[in-house]
Amino acid sequence: MDKKITELLDAQVNKELYSAYLYLGISKFFSKEGLGGFASWYKVQAEEEQEHAMKIYDYLLENGQDVTLNSLAAANVDFKDALAAVKEADKHEHYITKEIEKIMDAAVEHKDYRTQLFLNWFITEQEEEEHNSGEMVEKVEMLGNDKKNLYLLDKELGSRK
Ligand SMILES: [Fe+2]
Ligand SMILES: [Fe+2]
Repeated sequence: MDKKITELLDAQVNKELYSAYLYLGISKFFSKEGLGGFASWYKVQAEEEQEHAMKIYDYLLENGQDVTLNSLAAANVDFKDALAAVKEADKHEHYITKEIEKIMDAAVEHKDYRTQLFLNWFITEQEEEEHNSGEMVEKVEMLGNDKKNLYLLDKELGSRK
């Protein structure tokens, strides 16, 4: 595997773990706001991000590469209101999509067909992630930051496993 690709994948392990960290921060924010459904939804999301990190971690090790497990940046846990929190998640997913695309560009450039195939899953996943995070922003924008309104959505979100 080309060194540039392994470096990008290694960095992506860190970025997916940071995503988990960020979602945990958002989950904590909603917990403190008394919106347990939102909190639970973002906690599930944090678990998914850890799975993303592990997929890349396994891929690197299975292909005889190393994983550095560098330190994580501190997660943003301070949000002005519910809308700011869900917008942060949406912004982050768009950033992650760009990062995945950069690795894909490198894999194409180096004719690394195996990594291209591996990354296909992430390309599809990011489509779903952007869809979900965008929909969340739309819903919260529609309801406004009023907790009475958010409470209805909170009940729905709490059912995510
Ligand atoms: Fe992810
Ligand atoms: Fe994600």
